[in-house]
Amino acid sequence: MESTRQHLIELLQENEQCYISGQELSTKLHISRTAVWKHMKELEKDGYVIDAKPRKGYKITSAPNKMSQNTLQWGLQTEWLGKSIVHKPTIASTQTLAKQLAATGAEHGTIVIADEQTAGRGRMQRTWHSRKGEGIWMSLILRPEILPNKAPQITLLVATVIAEVLSNFNVKPLIKWPNDILINDKKVSGILTEMQAEQDQIEFMVIGIGLNVNQSKDMFPADLKPIATSLKIQSGQKLDPIVMTQQILMKFEDVYEKYISHGFDVLKGNWLKYGYKLGEKVYIQTAKRQWYGVIEGIEPDGALRIKNDDGSVETLYSAEIKW
Ligand code: BTN
Repeated sequence: MESTRQHLIELLQENEQCYISGQELSTKLHISRTAVWKHMKELEKDGYVIDAKPRKGYKITSAPNKMSQNTLQWGLQTEWLGKSIVHKPTIASTQTLAKQLAATGAEHGTIVIADEQTAGRGRMQRTWHSRKGEGIWMSLILRPEILPNKAPQITLLVATVIAEVLSNFNVKPLIKWPNDILINDKKVSGILTEMQAEQDQIEFMVIGIGLNVNQSKDMFPADLKPIATSLKIQSGQKLDPIVMTQQILMKFEDVYEKYISHGFDVLKGNWLKYGYKLGEKVYIQTAKRQWYGVIEGIEPDGALRIKNDDGSVETLYSAEIKW
C-alpha cells in the first residue's frame, strides 16, 4: 500500500512549479494540517529544501542527492513499479529480504534497494561485490500472470531494459545470454532471477539487479579486475545512481506492460540488437557437458539457439557462455 509520505511526495511533485496549500494537502492525504507540517519536517531532515509561505503553502525547491525511499520516489513516473520501496543503507542482500517480503505478501512492483550489501549474491552461489554507493543493488518483486516456464523471458526482458538505459551514456552494452551485461567484454551488470511457483502459476518472482555505476578500476578486488567494469570507467562520467535507478524502473514498467500484453515476440528484436557474440563461436557449459558452438540467435520463447560443428542445431534453456 502506498504510504502517506509517498503520496505527499507525489502531490508535491505534481505541483513542482507552484505552491500547494496545507489545507489541500490535508484534504487529499486525509490527515490533519499539523500532520502535514510534521511530514514536511521529516522531508527536510531527509535533505529536501522546502519553501513554505503563509497563505500560499508548500513547494519543494530541491531534492537531496542521497538515496532514500523518498528521493527515489521523487521523479519516478511509474504506475505501479516502486509504489512501495524499501531502502536500506546496509543489508546482507536485497534479494534475500525481497524474497522474505514476497513470501509474506509484498505487492507486485515492490522494490528493495540498498546502498551496500554485505553478502550480495550472484548466480551459481557466487558472491556479488556491492560496496557502499558504488552501484545499484536492488531487487524487484513481481507477480506476473504468466506460466512458470515463461519466467526466463523476464530475465531477458530486464537485460534489454538495462542495455537500453546504458546505451544512453555513450557506451555499447551487449547482453551475454541470459543475464550478463557487458561493455567492451567486461561485466557491468548481472541479473539474478528467483521465483516461487506452482505447476501452472507463479506466486512471485524476485529479480535482483546489480549494476556497477561509479567504481574506478582500483576499487574492484583483484579477482574481478580483469572481468568487471563500471559505467564510470566506460563512459568517463560519474553518474547519479538515483536517476539511473529511476530510468531503469520507468523503462522496465513500460517494456513489461508490452510483454504482458503482446508476449516475448515484441522484445526479441531488441534483444538481438544487443546480443553478445551473435553468429560467433563460443564455449558453452551446461550441467552435463561443455563444447564450442555458434550462437545463432534466440528462439521465440527466449531460449538460446546454438549451431554445433556437425551442423546440428540445439536449443538451450540454461547454460553458461564463456567469453
Ligand atoms: C550475477 O551476475 O551473478 C547476478 C548478480 C545479481 C546481483 C544483485 S545485487 C542486488 C541483488 N541482491 C543480491 O544479493 N543479488 C542481486
